[in-house]
Amino acid sequence: MYRANEKRYEKMIYRKCGKSGLRLPVISLGLWQNFGHQGNFSAMTEMIRTAFDLGITHFDLANNYGDPYIGSAEENFGKILSGMRQYRDEMIISTKAGYDMWDGPYGTRSGTRKYLVASLDQSLKRMGLEYVDIYYHHLFDPETPLEETALALDHVVRQGKALYVGVSNYDRAQTEEITAIFRELHTPFLIHQPSYSMLNRWIERDQLDQLAVEQGFGIAVFQGLYQGLLTDRYLKGIPADSRIGRGATWIGDELNEEMLTKLNSLNAIAHRRGQKLSQMALAWILHNPGVTTVIIGASRPAQIAENAGCIARLDFTADEIAEIEAILAK
Ligand SMILES: NC(=O)c1ccc[n+]([C@@H]2O[C@H](COP(=O)([O-])OP(=O)(O)OC[C@H]3O[C@@H](n4cnc5c(N)ncnc54)[C@H](OP(=O)(O)O)[C@@H]3O)[C@@H](O)[C@H]2O)c1
Repeated sequence: MYRANEKRYEKMIYRKCGKSGLRLPVISLGLWQNFGHQGNFSAMTEMIRTAFDLGITHFDLANNYGDPYIGSAEENFGKILSGMRQYRDEMIISTKAGYDMWDGPYGTRSGTRKYLVASLDQSLKRMGLEYVDIYYHHLFDPETPLEETALALDHVVRQGKALYVGVSNYDRAQTEEITAIFRELHTPFLIHQPSYSMLNRWIERDQLDQLAVEQGFGIAVFQGLYQGLLTDRYLKGIPADSRIGRGATWIGDELNEEMLTKLNSLNAIAHRRGQKLSQMALAWILHNPGVTTVIIGASRPAQIAENAGCIARLDFTADEIAEIEAILAK
């Protein structure tokens, strides 16, 4: 029988999600990779428990996570949760819908009411939950009026199947448009989930991060480690069991000499700060005032512990920021 670490809430920092009252851990755990049926069930159980013992209360899923078939990450999460049910109210569990999920015109990439409502019912069943804390539309659907998508998200909240809603991968203009509808409906629109890292700064260029601050929604960043590039995983070659080594990502093409020089220079700054590269990369994201949390992925418990350790040093001097900018601009 699992019993959580009693000191878990002393080990994490929690931030208010935008202007809402809800606080999220600055590091959250995502289950996109390594949590499907191809993975080892005891290893995934260990990762969820390690995270929870470190005060990581937020677990991020989506209807289509898992291999060899989509949905298997939610199934495994449900099984793991059944061994720690007493902690359900200490958790923020999110899921999403938007990508291809089931056959036919109603289960493929969509933002329709039909797809979003049905998909959430399926997710709840797979996870054995009565409600999720956050339900996201996974990506903008140009084929569906935003009003329909917003009304569908509003509907599941009123049904009691989600407490809050979010959008993911929407650009600033799309977010502004749907936010206006949510405001009219009084929908609890909590959060946006975009990709963002030292190597991927589109939310700054698009000023989505500024919009979050202005309008009061939170940002849960994904791929803050650029799928592992912003860690020491690849500094001495490509390990066979790494995401690039397994051929499980497209970022391998970016790992050239120029990139390695950049990563080594960043690594030197991290060491000077008494951190690992992963920890500095996460602290750098959390330095952006629009960001609430970074959703990390992991293949083993030690990575979660290392990443959560970023909170020991979240501050940056102006000189450090300038030095990092100079390296990234090269
Ligand atoms: N909304 C969306 O469209 C969307 C899209 C993608 C992801 N997400 C969410 O974001 C989460 C994270 O995404 P992600 O896993 O692709 O990105 P990530 O956090 O940038 O990369 C995670 C990978 O980096 C490696 N890693 C992590 N910590 C490490 C450490 N301390 N040292 C060495 N290597 C380390 C591991 O890969 P190895 O296998 O090499 O060990 C791990 O699986 C997902 O689980 C999901 O919840 C959302």
